[in-house]
Amino acid sequence: MDRGTRADIPPSSHFAYRLGALACDEVPLSVIAERFDTPTFVYSARAIDEAYDALAASVPQPCLIAYAIKANSNLAILARLARRGCGADIVSGGELARCLEVGLDPKKIVFSGVGKTDRELCMALDAGIRALHVESVPEIDAIEAIARDRGVRAPITLRVNPDVDPKTHPYIATGLHDTKFGLELDVARALLPRLCASEHLALEGVACHVGSQLAGAEPMADAVEILGAFAVECVRAGAPLRSLDAGGGWPIRYGDEDLDYAPWEAFGAAIRRGLEISGAAALGLELIVEPGRALVGDAGALLTRVVFVKEQHQKRFVIVDAAMTELIRPALYDAYHAVMPVRAAAPAGAADLVGPVCETGDFFAIDRALPPVARGDLLILRGAGAYGMSMASQYNSRPLAAEVLVEGGEAHLVRRRQSFEDLFRDELRPA
Ligand code: LLP
Repeated sequence: MDRGTRADIPPSSHFAYRLGALACDEVPLSVIAERFDTPTFVYSARAIDEAYDALAASVPQPCLIAYAIKANSNLAILARLARRGCGADIVSGGELARCLEVGLDPKKIVFSGVGKTDRELCMALDAGIRALHVESVPEIDAIEAIARDRGVRAPITLRVNPDVDPKTHPYIATGLHDTKFGLELDVARALLPRLCASEHLALEGVACHVGSQLAGAEPMADAVEILGAFAVECVRAGAPLRSLDAGGGWPIRYGDEDLDYAPWEAFGAAIRRGLEISGAAALGLELIVEPGRALVGDAGALLTRVVFVKEQHQKRFVIVDAAMTELIRPALYDAYHAVMPVRAAAPAGAADLVGPVCETGDFFAIDRALPPVARGDLLILRGAGAYGMSMASQYNSRPLAAEVLVEGGEAHLVRRRQSFEDLFRDELRPA
């Protein structure tokens, strides 16, 4: 996802130097490394709160913020957001279980995803969630059958595919015709008579999601305009519509962008414009948005320690104890994450920052001007609060990392580091 040629460190008031030592809010990162070891994800509670409040202030009201918990589903973070009134966008039974575990109001949960199993559909109906975002005709058949069996009426939302180019990394573009997501508009339209007549389905909303890390707000305006026009059609057809869901995609700055992203206010304005142009503003619908990365991405960093510095073939490799198992985004999308030394130092020579996993793709930075580091030094990778831990794996039999939430001047462990025994606790050896 390296879109630019710059290699900056985005400014942050939550990961900043105090007398030459990097701290997360008031807590020095060296203290966190000492107490909890490395690699460890460190999150600033204050940064999450600020992101939530800023996003809420930027969108038209009334609006339900349904946090896309796939970005970071740690229970402490979910509970914190739920306490602020946040809902959730989920994509699996596991994510639903997490929301219920922290007492998040089921009426604020929407369930997206192209492959919900019967078990997941039953679980969602039993929990009484706000809406199932349906993405195919077979899914509608399955939901209707399950609802009929249970004698209930299932609240559904049609997730349409607006065919808008989000101009983002192809792996995270979801609103084009040739992706697996959503229903084509003409298919969705043809479903309206059936849905409005169904005793076991209530068409309560329309939804879309054009992609993640949107550079500008225009794709959002275009998508909402298309979605809003479809909402008008649904109401005309007699659907009991309550909401319009504009999806996620609010960007954060990672530091490699040539141009700054549109500010969040521009996304709010784009939604407002789309609603007005399409005539949906007059329908009195509740707006839903599904930001993931924006709420947690820059609130988190991955704290890691240099294991070795190795010179080879006129190249310098800085080998750290974190890997693609903790943060797979560079390997998967060629994504850029800013690197900061815990002891302040100016960048020196270029080096590759790599992990210990046996894959050439296990890198965090290639030919990057890094500070002069030695064995034992600490570094952080910024922007690791979203799609870091939630995409982690145990490849190479590496125990999952610890997670720490800094709040009120204290570091709280919010996920214990796995032990070696945890790696094979669930494995069985037949006699
Ligand atoms: N809603 C739906 C239906 C989604 O599929 C997604 C993300 C979101 C909301 C939240 O998008 P966000 O606001 O975080 O951009 N692993 C990739 C991102 C994949 C996003 C998938 N869907 C990454 O690390 O960049």
